[in-house]
This record gives sequence, structure tokens and C-alpha cells, in this order.
Amino acid sequence: MSEELRISKDSPVGFFDSGIGGKCIEAAFRRLCPNERTIYIADSANCPYGNKPAGEIIRLSEAHTKSLLAQGCKMIVVACNTATAAAIDYLRRKYPEVPFVGIEPAVKPAALNSKSGIVGVLATQGTFNGRLYNETRAKFAKDVTILATVADEFVTIVEQGRVDSPETEGIVRRKIEPLLSAGADRIVLGCTHFPHLKSVIEKVCAGRAEVVEPSEAVARQAKRVLAERGLLA
Ligand code: DGL
Repeated sequence: MSEELRISKDSPVGFFDSGIGGKCIEAAFRRLCPNERTIYIADSANCPYGNKPAGEIIRLSEAHTKSLLAQGCKMIVVACNTATAAAIDYLRRKYPEVPFVGIEPAVKPAALNSKSGIVGVLATQGTFNGRLYNETRAKFAKDVTILATVADEFVTIVEQGRVDSPETEGIVRRKIEPLLSAGADRIVLGCTHFPHLKSVIEKVCAGRAEVVEPSEAVARQAKRVLAERGLLA
């Protein structure tokens, strides 16, 4: 960034996602840090990011970053697994003075806690292609069978506000049942749109698998980063 950052403890925290998915991260952060102000960009016009080329996601992510910085944000939370996978390395290089917090599928806790040794991961193709997911998987889940499943339909359901519609449970069940039948005892929600479907997903998984999602962990990380920099409101 060329212009000087004029930020203080009272500056807002910026969030962006391809749509309303990342609102679950923003909500977790606000519960944890009720004194903080937040600005959220939902890029629903360009949703989904899941199958876009990395270069396009970088371009969109940089535009959101510029817009949030122009609004005086003191930190940016990339509240999208796909955008984190494609763009966070670029953003950190390009804006070294800005703290960025990203999100990746919670493969590590799921793999460490799985008893069956089989973990289902729901995410976008872009997330599965990314360095972060593949490094974490190689490091922490090499003795576990990962059933990687693209669930773009879930993104559409959430963006269209169809979470409570009658056909949603059937769509969720058709996606997750094969993972449960294959023995998965952990289902990782590796896309920020999916926690919006958590109650349906938990109903489908009931008694067979635990649902793992990292909103609270990302919120805690965001708080830590602010505290380290003396920027907590
Ligand atoms: N919310 C985004 C994520 O966490 C994905 C949704 C999309 O495909 O745009 O990956």
C-alpha cells in the first residue's frame, strides 16, 4: 500500500467472502470481541469463487482489500477458504504492513480426533487445489483417509436463502450419506457458506459423525493478532 495507514484501536476490522458465507466468521468474532467494529464485503455478484481460476480470485480479493483499507480497516479477515487458498500469500506480500487472517479446512483437529481414521472434507475445488490444504493434509492427516468432496450446491442454497426450504435436507443428505457410509466420523466444513447449513448437516450426521468447523478458532486467531499488535478495541 502506498498511502500511510491511519489506523488505531478504534478502526474497524474488515471481512470479505464470495458472498454471505463469511458472516459466520464475522459473527464469531463479534461474539468474542463485542467492542470491535466490523465491515463486511459480500461479493455475491461474483459468487461462486469455488471454480474460478486463481488469478481471478486474486484480482477480486485485492479489490476487496483495497476497498476495506480505504475504509480505514486495521486488519483484514479473508473469510473464505477459496480466497485464502488463492490469494492470501499474494496479499501478504503486496501489503506487508497489513495483518491478514485467513481460513482453511480444519483437517488437523478432525484427523487428530477421528477414531475411525476416515474424515470427510466438504470444500470447493479451489480450496482442494490450494497449497494450505495440501500442506496441512500432508503434515497432519497422512495416516487418515480423507474423503475430499466438492459441495458447490451448498453454496447456492445458502446464497439463495434456501437453508430452510423443504428440499435442502435431501440435497445435504445425498452429499453426506456416502461419506458416513464409508465410515467417516468427522465431517469438516471447509467452506464458510457451510456453517449456515450446520443444523441440517448435524441432523444428517447425528450419532455417526461430528461436524467440525473453525469459525470460533478463526475468531480467536483474529483476536490474538490484534492483541499482538496492540490494536484491540
Ligand atoms: N465461502 C467460500 C469458501 O469458504 C466459497 C464459496 C464459493 O464457491 O464462492 O470457500
